[in-house]
Amino acid sequence: MAGIIKWGILGTGKIAHKFAADLRLVQQAELRAVASRSIEKAARFGAEFHAAKYYGTYLELANDPEIDVVYIATPHVFHCENTLMCLKAGKSVLCEKPLGMNAREVGAMIRESKSSNLFLMEALWTRFIPATEKLIEVIEKGVVGEITRLQSDFGYAAGYDPESRLFNKKLGGGALLDIGLYPVYLSLLLMGMPASIRASAILTKSGVDASCVIHFGYENGTQADLEATLQENMPIEALIKGTKGSIKMHKRFHHTEKLTVTEFGKSAEILKIPYRGNGYFHEIEEVISCIQNHEIQSLKMPHSTSMDLISTLDKIRKEIDLTYEGDDGE
Ligand SMILES: NC(=O)c1ccc[n+]([C@@H]2O[C@H](COP(=O)([O-])OP(=O)(O)OC[C@H]3O[C@@H](n4cnc5c(N)ncnc54)[C@H](OP(=O)(O)O)[C@@H]3O)[C@@H](O)[C@H]2O)c1
Repeated sequence: MAGIIKWGILGTGKIAHKFAADLRLVQQAELRAVASRSIEKAARFGAEFHAAKYYGTYLELANDPEIDVVYIATPHVFHCENTLMCLKAGKSVLCEKPLGMNAREVGAMIRESKSSNLFLMEALWTRFIPATEKLIEVIEKGVVGEITRLQSDFGYAAGYDPESRLFNKKLGGGALLDIGLYPVYLSLLLMGMPASIRASAILTKSGVDASCVIHFGYENGTQADLEATLQENMPIEALIKGTKGSIKMHKRFHHTEKLTVTEFGKSAEILKIPYRGNGYFHEIEEVISCIQNHEIQSLKMPHSTSMDLISTLDKIRKEIDLTYEGDDGE
């Protein structure tokens, strides 16, 4: 499938707009069609981003024979059904985070990707941000020694609205799944799966976590302290401490353009590493490269990482007693 990869966008909300803007920057990508639950919204979005076609149902997009890959940008609770529909219709999928609501859903999505031999990736753009690549390189070179501790937060004052995607339990709302996922992902990327998990949360009246504090312990004695909140503005940084120094991922760490690397006994080095567009450019390039190489997963964001991530989020949810409809498999 060399040459241009034809994209469809399913769901025309906030993130879909930012993603579509970046799609236009990628040479080998073409936005072929968009789908919304409303034909008027689809028409508007399609016109704004010059899509050749627009649909008033998601199913029509899934069934469009011209589309190679669908980007799914709906609320969390729909990711599984939207993804399965597209894979079953023969389309590769890039699906927003979290890939599914729980490990059962993510397992079903991965099984379908394997059985239909089609590419599937969680849109964890952080992994492809150039500064993240640099961070991994610096750590692998041993510049800061062995990692001993990670501290990271993601928080902002969202303004409580029980009907909004962020707070509506029926849409999979809550700080952990929406933004807490990023510090948790960073800890998995740098330190692997934790041996122990402690967490506590403040729940909203709508029954989701307004904020969540998480502590991970590892077999080798290292620790991660993570926090997510929709109640107040926070630094949105990450600090990685090691035996020989530390690295700060500056605000907003999940798509940072600035790292400060401090080796003990030396002056700090500031690295400025820009990303393209809104930052989604880099994950789009990865998807295109994988599809052109007939891969069904990315080596950098493989199915196993999505499974590790959701399994860890499931365990944190157990600690804070946060359940969603469908957790039990219904
Ligand atoms: N990677 C990132 O940086 C990033 C940032 C923000 C969000 N996200 C993820 O992207 C997903 C969407 O977030 P968003 O902020 O773009 O949300 P949003 O603005 O609310 O958009 C979600 C879209 O999903 C569609 N949808 C389908 N069923 C819906 C329902 N029952 N209620 C509301 N919308 C429904 C709607 O599109 P139509 O009306 O066109 O059908 C809606 O515009 C979430 O999973 C989130 O975690 C990722």
